[in-house]
Amino acid sequence: MALRFPDGFVWGSATSAYQIEGSTRADGRRESIWDRFCATPGRIEDGSSGEVACDHYRRWREDVALMKELGFRGYRFSIAWPRVVPTGRGAVNAAGLDFYSRLVDELLAQGIEPLPTLFHWDLPQDLQDGGGWARRATAEAFVEYADVVSRHLGDRVKRWITHNEPWCISFYSHQIGRHAPGLQDWPTALAVAHHVLLSHGWAVPVLRRNSPGAEVGITLNFEPAVPASPSGPDRDAARQSDGSFNRWFLDPVFGRGYPGDVVADHARAGRLPSPTLPFNQKGDLEVIAEPLDFLGVNYYTRRVIRNADVPEERNAPRAVFVAPESEWTAMGWEVSPEEFYHLLCRIHFEYRPAKLYVTENGASYDDEISVDGQVHDERRVRYLREHLMAAHRAIAAGVPLAGYFVWSLLDNFEWDRGYSKRFGIVRVDYETQERTLKDSARYLKKVMESNTVE
Ligand code: FCB
Repeated sequence: MALRFPDGFVWGSATSAYQIEGSTRADGRRESIWDRFCATPGRIEDGSSGEVACDHYRRWREDVALMKELGFRGYRFSIAWPRVVPTGRGAVNAAGLDFYSRLVDELLAQGIEPLPTLFHWDLPQDLQDGGGWARRATAEAFVEYADVVSRHLGDRVKRWITHNEPWCISFYSHQIGRHAPGLQDWPTALAVAHHVLLSHGWAVPVLRRNSPGAEVGITLNFEPAVPASPSGPDRDAARQSDGSFNRWFLDPVFGRGYPGDVVADHARAGRLPSPTLPFNQKGDLEVIAEPLDFLGVNYYTRRVIRNADVPEERNAPRAVFVAPESEWTAMGWEVSPEEFYHLLCRIHFEYRPAKLYVTENGASYDDEISVDGQVHDERRVRYLREHLMAAHRAIAAGVPLAGYFVWSLLDNFEWDRGYSKRFGIVRVDYETQERTLKDSARYLKKVMESNTVE
């Protein structure tokens, strides 16, 4: 049966600056924490970096033409802070701003709506040297940067995203340590999460002022936690995982403050000196809860959780992941469109955001080039189709989902996994920078043309 999407549903693709742009030293850009991280031996699986990436900084016109050819109506990209305010605070680099200004103009000329994300992880290294997101001053710096960008693009950009995936910025990068700056410290990660959220709340009115009539939101990533069994301990481990991954951000953004059960977990495990959050100053929670026009949802996978049966301590969370009999992507992520549907419904019915956009969804597979020179990525096509069906089901259940942005337009630099993981619907040959449409790109083209999924 053909499933029709609502009129005006925004079909888009998503990328981020460090993952595609390259030209990391061009036109006054300074070092970001990702340049530094990549230069540190052992951090990136294949020893690579974003120095060249997809060379998008020079090929952006060609990439916009590609989007146009495929029929995309929206493009979610990110702005590189170290291009615009290279030292993080202070002097503005006009050449950096011009790049994004030209990109926005070209997108609009091609009928593609620009949806910039202000922070997709490439913090200026100078700010990191001063303490990074662990310091409140970085939140102030972010607001100044947001002001600069929105003063320049605010006349043309009609939807802004402040941050991409605060969970990754904080816990993945400062506690698990797999992303830049690669720290492993709970109290730091908790402070980082708070300052990122605070900077978001502070930036919202600034964006609204500089970009009258524009919509403003934040993108959170979600991994629904499903208990491996109905046993009390497994369910509690799933509660904990859901709490520290999903609710830790959803709750404060939607005015509920930090989840008390998770604060207690952290205090009990010695990750906090007491069941209070030392960095949380009076009034912060109101700032963080500034009403939004939309919530961006990134979804890839779920976690099936079992209780570890170890004494709870600082770095031994009780939740361990189990691997059910299922389908898995090359990232080792389980394919679960069903959980995508439940997630969208849960967010809508429990938190009531004014509107939702899926700002990332997609899959990495070890694509092969066939003898005919094409990439027949039927597993990615299936992944996309099943997730679009789930999204449609959520809309039918009443979820105000207004758009879907596939991750990603291009194969690109997949952070700590380097170039070994390909998420693109368009293949990139990193030797020649040649772009080749995969079957999944053709599939989405048909979906977007007809506004239906079959
Ligand atoms: C998300 C990131 C994005 C990309 C995908 C695969 O966590 O936002 O940049 O790496 O995962």
